[in-house]
This record gives sequence, structure tokens and C-alpha cells, in this order.
Amino acid sequence: MLVVALCNQKGGVGKTTTAVNLARAAHLRGISTLIGDLDPQANTTSTLLGQALDTSAESVADVLSARSDATPSDVIVKTGWQHVQVLPSGGDALADVGTELVAMGPGREHRLREALSPLVGAYELVLLDCPPALDLLTINALTAAQEAVIVTTAALWSSDGIARLLATLDAVQKYSNASLHPAGVIVNGLERTRRQRHWHEELLANSPVAVWGPPVPKLTWIAEAAEAGVGLDEWNTPAASNLLAVYDQYLSNILEGTSHR
Ligand SMILES: Nc1ncnc2c1ncn2[C@@H]1O[C@H](COP(=O)(O)OP(=O)(O)OP(=O)(O)O)[C@@H](O)[C@H]1O
Ligand SMILES: [Mg+2]
Repeated sequence: MLVVALCNQKGGVGKTTTAVNLARAAHLRGISTLIGDLDPQANTTSTLLGQALDTSAESVADVLSARSDATPSDVIVKTGWQHVQVLPSGGDALADVGTELVAMGPGREHRLREALSPLVGAYELVLLDCPPALDLLTINALTAAQEAVIVTTAALWSSDGIARLLATLDAVQKYSNASLHPAGVIVNGLERTRRQRHWHEELLANSPVAVWGPPVPKLTWIAEAAEAGVGLDEWNTPAASNLLAVYDQYLSNILEGTSHR
């Protein structure tokens, strides 16, 4: 079971869009996949379930909380995609658990890792959609993961943000998960402007971690498809098929990268 965290402490860069499209690419390959939604905004959960999780339903918040005995198997739900299941976010409850974790003390970074360990064998791939913060929810995802994929836009401060994130990855590697590896950087939402080209080139030249190509352009239909939980293969345009091939390539990078280590 390969666990991959999609992360960036910056909001709105495309973590959720990337998670959904990678899950679709994995589904199309018949890879049994679990998406873990670690964001109190619960966008992945709503997208893949077609609606927000029922407020009375148990969620990843219960799995992480010391106040509940819930295991992932109790809360995982099926999606309309046969090979993809969701460990759903509990919205406000997950935000509360983020606070609970702060007070929890030793072992608090390992709660997700421990909760996922009985699932080894049940899924080939676990994609963890992180919240836009370097908080204990993200640290739990990074402690559970073997691979971290950084999703970013090409903008002023993007390199600084990546440097900060990499420092956090180093700390997690040192203190809570020696097998964590920064897999690569996905550039999302690239516009055809001189400024964006400049910041993209700057990322390519200076990123200490491989920047995977090609970048994902900024196009309205990409948001529409991902937000509606419609696979790019179901979007029925040549451009969407081409973009699906890009996500499929990213998926290969993730899977093949790990086979070399
Ligand atoms: N390539 C793209 N082209 C156009 N719109 C995009 C693209 N990628 C993402 N978006 C849109 O931008 C917004 C932010 O994307 P997304 O939710 O994937 O980012 P995020 O990093 O998960 O955000 P958050 O940090 O808030 O969880 C969404 O409305 C999404 O539909
Ligand atoms: Mg998100």
C-alpha cells in the first residue's frame, strides 16, 4: 500500500483538484485507491460523494480523535468510481480534532499512520488530500505517507513556500517518519502570461525537488470537471483526454519513483 500526501500550506493551489484527477487516473488503471480527506473544508468528500457528508456520519475526525474508537473501515465510503473509496472529512469536527491533537502530547503525529496500518493489503494506493496549513493534520498525513507530492502554482513566493514545506518534510523525516520522500512538484493553474512563465522558469531552475511536466494549465473546465466529480475521460473533449494523460503520467512518476527505491 503506497501512501501519498498531496500537500502545500498555501490554499487554493490545486491539491484537491490533483487528488481527484490522480484518483480517476488510478481508477482507470484498476488500482484500488483510497482518498483520505484531511481538510476540514471537506472539498474532496463533497466532490466524490456528490454532496457533503451527513453531519451525523462518522468521519476521519472520529478516526483521529482519542474520544472515539472508530477505525477507517467504520467510516470509509464508496464513491461512484468503482476502484475509489473515500475516508471522508468531518468538516467542523475535523477542525476540532486538529485542536484536540495539539493538546494530545506524545504520539499525536502517528494517529493516522496507526489507523491506516490495518488497511495494508486492502488498497494499493492511498492519496491524502492535506489542508492548507502545516498543522497536525498535515503532519499526520506526512507521518503516514511514503511519498509527498507538492502541488503549487507558479507565482511570487512559490519557491519560498516550497522551501518552507521541504523544511517541514525534513523535520517529519527526522522525528516521525524516516521513510518519507519528497516525490515531486506538480505545477497547477499555469496561465499564459509573462509573469507566470517567469515564475514557472524560476521554479524549474531552483526547485530542490523534481518539477514534473507538463504543468496543468488554468482552464475553467478543469475546475468544473473536478468540482463536479466528473472524470476527465467522461468530459468528452480532446483537451480533457490530453490532460488525463498528464495526470496518468504523474501517477506513473509516483508509482515508478517508489519502485526505484
Ligand atoms: N487548473 C485549474 N484551472 C482552473 N481552475 C482550477 C484549476 N485547479 C484548481 N482550480 C480551481 O481553483 C480552486 C482551488 O483549487 P483546489 O480546491 O484544488 O485547491 P486546494 O489547494 O485543494 O485548495 P485548499 O487549500 O483550499 O484545499 C477550486 O475552485 C478549483 O476548482
Ligand atoms: Mg483542497
